[in-house]
Amino acid sequence: MTITSAEFVISNTDFRRCPQADMPEVAFIGRSNVGKSSLINYLTGKKDLAKTSSKPGKTLLINHFLINGKFHLVDLPGYGFAKVSKTQREKLRKIIEDYIMFRPQLTNLFVLLDSRLEPQQIDLDFMEWLGQSGIPFSIVFTKSDKQTKGKLMQNIDQYKSKLYETWETLPPIFITSSEKKEGGTEILDYIGKIV
Ligand code: GTP
Ligand code: MG
Repeated sequence: MTITSAEFVISNTDFRRCPQADMPEVAFIGRSNVGKSSLINYLTGKKDLAKTSSKPGKTLLINHFLINGKFHLVDLPGYGFAKVSKTQREKLRKIIEDYIMFRPQLTNLFVLLDSRLEPQQIDLDFMEWLGQSGIPFSIVFTKSDKQTKGKLMQNIDQYKSKLYETWETLPPIFITSSEKKEGGTEILDYIGKIV
C-alpha cells in the first residue's frame, strides 16, 4: 500500500479518550529509543510527524495519526526507560498496558527490537505477555544500518533461536532502517493486508 496522507489527530494518556472512530489501527511499541517515532516518520514520508530524539523517553503519550483517511497509526511511549522515577515508569506502564488491553480497534502491534542487541529479557517478557493476552503482534528489527549485513543476520538468527525456545511459530518479522529508508515497503504491504 501507499500512504497518500498522514495527519496528527490527538495525543492522550488515556485510552478512553483516543479517537472513537470505528477504524482499524496499528501501533508501534518497544523499548525507549528503539526507533518507534522514526519508523512512523519514515513510513509516512513525513520527517517531523512524530517527535523523535536521541535521548530516550521522548514519546510519553499515545499519539494517533490518521492515514489515507482510513486507519490510524499509533506512536506509543517506550517501555523500560531506567532514568525516570519509579512512579513515572509505573504510570507509563499503565498507559501502555491499558491501551493494548482495552483498545478494540488495535489490529496489530509492531514490537520493535534493536537489531544490534542480543535478546533482552524485558522484550521477551513483553512478547510473552502479549501472547498470553492474545494480542496480535509482529516484530520489527530496527537500526539495521548500524552494523554490517553479516552481523545483522547473525543477531537476528540468534534472536529467532531464542524465540523458538518459547514459541512454536514466530510472528511476521521485518528488518528496517529509518535512516537508510529500508524495509518500509514490506511493512506497508503487510499493513495494507490487515487494515
Ligand atoms: P521514545 O519515544 O523515547 O520511546 O523513543 P523512540 O523509540 O520513538 O525512538 P526515536 O524514533 O525517537 O529514535 C531514537 C534515536 O534513534 C534517534 O536519535 C533516531 O535518530 C535514532 N534512530 C531511529 N531509527 C534509526 C535507524 O533506523 N537508524 C539509525 N542509525 N538511527 C535511528
Ligand atoms: Mg518516540
